[in-house]
Amino acid sequence: PRKVFSGIQPTGSLHLGNYLGAVRKWLQMQEQNSSDSITICIVDMHSITMPHNPPMLRDNIFTMAATLLACGIDPAKCTLFVQSAVLEHSELNWILSSLTTMPRLAQLPQFKEKSRQVRDVPLGLYVYPVLQAADIMLYKATHVPVGIDQLQHIQLAQHLARNFNGRYGELFPVCTPVIEQDDGSRVLSLRDVSKKMSKSDPNPKGTINLADSPEQIKEKIKKAVTDFTSDISYDPNTRPGVSNLVNIHAHVTNSSIATVVEEAKTLDTGRYKERVADAVIEHLRPIREQIDRHMANRKELSYMLEMGADRARQVAQQTMLEVKQRLGLGTYC
Ligand code: TYM
Repeated sequence: PRKVFSGIQPTGSLHLGNYLGAVRKWLQMQEQNSSDSITICIVDMHSITMPHNPPMLRDNIFTMAATLLACGIDPAKCTLFVQSAVLEHSELNWILSSLTTMPRLAQLPQFKEKSRQVRDVPLGLYVYPVLQAADIMLYKATHVPVGIDQLQHIQLAQHLARNFNGRYGELFPVCTPVIEQDDGSRVLSLRDVSKKMSKSDPNPKGTINLADSPEQIKEKIKKAVTDFTSDISYDPNTRPGVSNLVNIHAHVTNSSIATVVEEAKTLDTGRYKERVADAVIEHLRPIREQIDRHMANRKELSYMLEMGADRARQVAQQTMLEVKQRLGLGTYC
């Protein structure tokens, strides 16, 4: 049986990129094999590595939990919890930080990109991927379903697991990233196809949030950048804008790229955008309703997350006992 772990930042509401790149995979895994253990973490400690607003962070944690439930994450089948509730994440982060080097962290693309956005780079931003490795390793995860943008971070986790095992004896599995082969693993911004769809996109019109109203979705897709060719074809290299829409369309209708392109044969991009918008709205409608339902009851959400944290803590504490023993920390006899 696999031990699956993944995380998501509560930076803003869940968007179509997160959904198609990661959350759908989690749902598939949840339904596939009941002997797998699946742990999903709302990584609030990662979200403080960039300047943030505390009341907003707290709201976003609840919104994220409500949204994940609305998508179909089932707390009876998965352990869903908030990172800061399990202290061992920080503890293992510290231990792992002595097992990698500064040059290795400095060359990671996400660090390079984010550090450009602030004048003085916080240490937390630098250590970010080590904390991510701690997340994965605490649960001895074997499989980590993510979008392609996380690949280098997962590779760092592999490196840390190997390094730990090499120095202190075999303890951690070297995890496998589970990344969609098709383009679901990289949904692009609707406004700038050189970027992935992202919560931190300065242009919010490039990102479709799961909680967006039908009008907002229509508007955003209508204004999505395409090119000067009016028919519909799929070629991410030469026609990234249209291909991004085709990709989204195929995913939300559960069809293949070829089918979607074939069915759009008679449409120009303007009409096609309407069709894509309708399909996205249809797909997201029940999710949006469920988000509202879950948001109406914060107490229940909070209780559910506490239960998740209790379960996560048991695994994390056991791992930390083993880690400390291996390192000669503390006074265990
Ligand atoms: P985050 O919160 O940025 O994104 C959550 C998941 O969504 C995927 N994703 C995308 N996939 C396709 N197209 C996009 N435009 C797109 N944008 C985001 C991400 O690849 C990710 O799978 N560092 C992580 C959170 C994290 C984590 C972990 C993940 C912390 N600890 C341990 C896995 C394991 C992050 O910032 O993801």
